[in-house]
Amino acid sequence: MSDKRDHSNEDRSPAGIDRRRFLASGATVAAAFALGGLPAAQAAAPTNAAAAPSPGMDRKCRLGPLEVSPMGLGCMSGSAFFFPLPGKARMISVIRQAHERGVTLFDTAELYGPFANEELVGEAVQPFRKDVVVATKFGFGYEGGQSTGADSRPATIRRAVEGSLRRLRTDYIDLLYQHRVDPKVPIEEVAGTVKELIGEGKVRAFGLSEPGLETLRRAHAVQPVAAVQNEYSVLERGPEQGTLALCRELGIGLVPWAPLARGFNTGRYGIGTRFLTGDHRAGLPRMFADAMPANLLLIDLLERWGTVKQATPAQISLAWLLAQGTDIVPIPGTTDPWHLIENLGGAEVSFTPEELVRFRAELEAIPIVGAKGSPQSVASAGVEAPRGTNR
Ligand SMILES: NC(=O)c1ccc[n+]([C@@H]2O[C@H](COP(=O)([O-])OP(=O)(O)OC[C@H]3O[C@@H](n4cnc5c(N)ncnc54)[C@H](OP(=O)(O)O)[C@@H]3O)[C@@H](O)[C@H]2O)c1
Repeated sequence: MSDKRDHSNEDRSPAGIDRRRFLASGATVAAAFALGGLPAAQAAAPTNAAAAPSPGMDRKCRLGPLEVSPMGLGCMSGSAFFFPLPGKARMISVIRQAHERGVTLFDTAELYGPFANEELVGEAVQPFRKDVVVATKFGFGYEGGQSTGADSRPATIRRAVEGSLRRLRTDYIDLLYQHRVDPKVPIEEVAGTVKELIGEGKVRAFGLSEPGLETLRRAHAVQPVAAVQNEYSVLERGPEQGTLALCRELGIGLVPWAPLARGFNTGRYGIGTRFLTGDHRAGLPRMFADAMPANLLLIDLLERWGTVKQATPAQISLAWLLAQGTDIVPIPGTTDPWHLIENLGGAEVSFTPEELVRFRAELEAIPIVGAKGSPQSVASAGVEAPRGTNR
């Protein structure tokens, strides 16, 4: 194992970028090198002059009635879970740069902050609101600004939507997901409420995140589901155990969350990595020191393929997801303008059918060690809702 992974501090400096080969427009690369010695905060806006749609990002994908770019931007870590937070100005700048480079899908949720991320996203996209797809999520109750657990009762959904509309500075939500299935509320009631909201013009399309398969089928029967948002990446391939097949049967798009496995698939973490107190990543068993040596074999694989394709591990990871089908629209999260450019470069990397077979064989030969999340988060995925009447 190479010693660069045995690090106790993550290299977040722009200077780190010249140790990587990454795909981006020539002008952007030039700007990146010109800024190479600056501290990260000063480099928050690499360049506006060079901003142009990233190659490969002009392709259109469909999530039900919505047309979106092949990759979206996950905005969560602008306000929650990964520390230190970037600060509002920086995240707004990253979101706007993503739009300039062709991203038209922006993902947030009531839970992120809570509430603060929707406010940030609303402010960021306001100048181009009509040109982009904004996705948000309901599904929890709150007291004193803290989540009190799953709550998808119809009145709670309606209250959540009113709050999301206000924070997002908009009069419609393009894609409204149930964040997690509520084991106490029939999915027919949930889907029926979203159907009414669509009828009222407040919502354009319905999504579910991490639903049980039967629940997905029953929800779709009440209100067609445009997208399922599940964790999916080279590290976590759970959707291949039924969800992807069902989505394809029903004509539903799949939006992989954590497509970079919270940064793991970029090769930035190693045995010595430490996270700040409260950082969500510290609780992920696959990132524990005892699991790292085994799981880092995946990074070796990504680096080998990266050498062949002149791409970074992050780009190979995202390109592999894109190569699984045009119905798959990953939403990598970043708070860093350099990472944004790097990630969009993944849309330039392609695989031949023969390469995909070889890649998969190599991937499946690597046993992944550790649960994908905390016991609580694992238990909240794949839940089946109780049965209700079709409203
Ligand atoms: N439906 C759900 O239940 C659910 C759950 C979690 C997340 N989500 C959504 O999915 C989105 C993406 O998921 P995620 O943010 O958890 O995980 P992710 O996209 O797999 O990874 C994000 C992490 O990777 C780092 N990163 C990104 N690009 C990088 C690069 N090129 N090089 C090095 N590091 C890089 C980011 O740090 P930097 O900021 O430093 O780039 C951040 O720490 C979220 O923003 C959210 O919208 C949904």
